[in-house]
Amino acid sequence: MTLLEPMQPSRRPRAATKIASAVESASALDRVAEPLGGVAQRLAGTGARRSALSGTWLGHPLHPLIVGVPVGAWTSASVLDLLGQRRAARTLIGVGLLAVAPAAATGASEWADTTGAERRTGLVHMTANTVAALAYTRSWRLRRRGRDGRGVLWALVGAAAASAGGWLGGHLAYAIGVGVDTNAFSGGPQEWTRLQGDLPEAGPPEGSAVQANAGGIPILVVRSEGRIRALADRCSHRGGPLSDGEIGDGCVTCPWHASRFDLATGEVVDGPAVAPQPTYEIRAADGGWEVRRHEERDLRVNPVGPLPA
Ligand code: FES
Repeated sequence: MTLLEPMQPSRRPRAATKIASAVESASALDRVAEPLGGVAQRLAGTGARRSALSGTWLGHPLHPLIVGVPVGAWTSASVLDLLGQRRAARTLIGVGLLAVAPAAATGASEWADTTGAERRTGLVHMTANTVAALAYTRSWRLRRRGRDGRGVLWALVGAAAASAGGWLGGHLAYAIGVGVDTNAFSGGPQEWTRLQGDLPEAGPPEGSAVQANAGGIPILVVRSEGRIRALADRCSHRGGPLSDGEIGDGCVTCPWHASRFDLATGEVVDGPAVAPQPTYEIRAADGGWEVRRHEERDLRVNPVGPLPA
């Protein structure tokens, strides 16, 4: 009797997986992606402009909301073309084109802080969408001159490019996690849990931050305006270590892209982050410190259970 089951032959990856992997690892794209990424960073800016483009004011990434306009308008235009409603189709193509600039600006804000595979995939996503916008522009102009047949053909080219761009956009979010709250699956302890790490028995001095650990979750512990505060240490934007950030005005500023979070509530004060930091109740106990997830503000549950310690 064998104790080990024979290994099953591995399945071949699907075509979509192979294409996505090829894009992610195409380092030749870096020659274009890196300088363009720098342009995106300058265009996205900082402070109020960055918060507006990211969707900080809304508490939700703005890009996926806005791209619904061109995608919906252009898809509907294809249906109207099938029904022979050429004039209405042209109107919808125009509506989609009006949304291209805000979709590109909010997309640039998402893309600005990416690196490596994310940045390459974002570049191809952006290129496909640019091709789509150009094809639909051509389609709209041809239709306006009464050349509906050629306009329909260019709309098909646009639809193909927009589909490729949309698929890569979904890959960026669902597979690579661009735009996802990095704390979504690390809820932290719901019962009082002892903090591990170099946390002084009296707590950190005023205005300084310490990183501790509760059951595998990095926790930022800060004394601000006389009170000890505890938040998730991993920035909800791209995972920067908030314990390396600046403390001031009741906020912590992320060292990576300068998002600011209110230390008392975890709310985002300045973007690009859009999701608040999880906050924790903290108390002194037995010569150390204990935390538990502050559930009054945030009732999200962890769908995968606590992380292993
Ligand atoms: S990781 Fe981007 S602001 Fe914190």
